[in-house]
Amino acid sequence: MNPFTLNYEPEYFCDRQNELARLSKNISNGRNTLIHSPRRLGKSALIKHFFHTLEKKKNFETIFIDLFATTSLEGFIQAMAENILFKYHSKNFIEGVKTLLKGLSPNISFSPDGTPGIGLSVQPARYETTLKELFNYLETRKKKVIIAFDEFQEVAGYPEKGEAVLRTYIQNLSNVRFIFSGSSNHLLQQMFFSAKRPFYQSVEIMVLDKINRETYFGFIKDNFEKNDKQVAPDALEYLLDFSEIYTYYTQVVCNYAFSETENKLELQQAYTITDDLIENRKADYQSLLRLLPENQRKVAIAVANEGIIKKPTAIDFILKHRLPSVSSVAQALKSLENKEIICLTNDGYTVYDVFFKRFLQRYYGKELN
Ligand SMILES: Nc1ncnc2c1ncn2[C@@H]1O[C@H](COP(=O)(O)OP(=O)(O)OP(=O)(O)O)[C@@H](O)[C@H]1O
Ligand SMILES: [Mg+2]
Repeated sequence: MNPFTLNYEPEYFCDRQNELARLSKNISNGRNTLIHSPRRLGKSALIKHFFHTLEKKKNFETIFIDLFATTSLEGFIQAMAENILFKYHSKNFIEGVKTLLKGLSPNISFSPDGTPGIGLSVQPARYETTLKELFNYLETRKKKVIIAFDEFQEVAGYPEKGEAVLRTYIQNLSNVRFIFSGSSNHLLQQMFFSAKRPFYQSVEIMVLDKINRETYFGFIKDNFEKNDKQVAPDALEYLLDFSEIYTYYTQVVCNYAFSETENKLELQQAYTITDDLIENRKADYQSLLRLLPENQRKVAIAVANEGIIKKPTAIDFILKHRLPSVSSVAQALKSLENKEIICLTNDGYTVYDVFFKRFLQRYYGKELN
């Protein structure tokens, strides 16, 4: 098995010791947590790993609910009901529905591999009672229950007043603790940082950062060695530079590096591996680039070539990259940020997708410098 997995696997999880300890402390002290970070840094994996450790200790019950692609309170209730039913009533689904959701008539279907799915339709008039039933059920469990709502920012887009309704329930539960998680965009920011919103100041906030470089280095080296392979230190440093220690990209690069290495990975081969990675994505990235209006394309290329840039509207940057006026650069930045092509970090603007950045540097680097 390749130890550099692209899905969460408990035995191939790297570090996050501080974050896990902090989550534990929050839970034992009755605090709810919001975890946010840019995409693909490892929020979902962190929560899954935390739940894995809790379940092993058997003091808590955990429920992970992915709200991605839910568009209404009905979708939220369905996701929650399904996860609770799978957790507590997987042996007898119909019985579970009867005890849990008294007023609902679900359609239970089975997929070819035998896993049940439920088509629960909930009438708007029953939203609140159904939520109440679900939360009350958790409130009466003997063990404390920890629920994670991943991609929680979706709730902000529901046509109903989802936030206010949820906040009321969440506030009144004593047996249930919550972890909310999502990527750091303005939707999530507004939900938790705006004084006008129901979830304002209701959580302890954890901003997930990159994994420490030395720790990741050790993890990668160890996992090569456990499998009777070696990695030259300069090759490993290069892989971390190339992927910017950005969890997802580092995992992908290492996954290939591992599978391509027979005995020992040397620097030269590491170059080939990353070249191939970008080459394979070239067609997709080219069409992405082609879809951008001229100004945005130019700005994306310029930002990529700087790596990271504090002030892309500064005149020297504009002149150096032959960009149009300050105002059109500012506008292009805004659009690129909305499209999640570039993002603003503590150190400045950068291209969000590390591989796209490498692609731009490689194929559009010379043109402008
Ligand atoms: N600590 C870790 N050790 C090893 N792999 C990890 C770790 N954290 C995350 N990963 C891997 O990195 C990738 C991104 O992680 P994950 O999906 O958890 O990020 P995310 O922050 O939830 O992203 P998104 O915002 O897109 O939902 C996944 O392939 C995951 O398996
Ligand atoms: Mg996630």
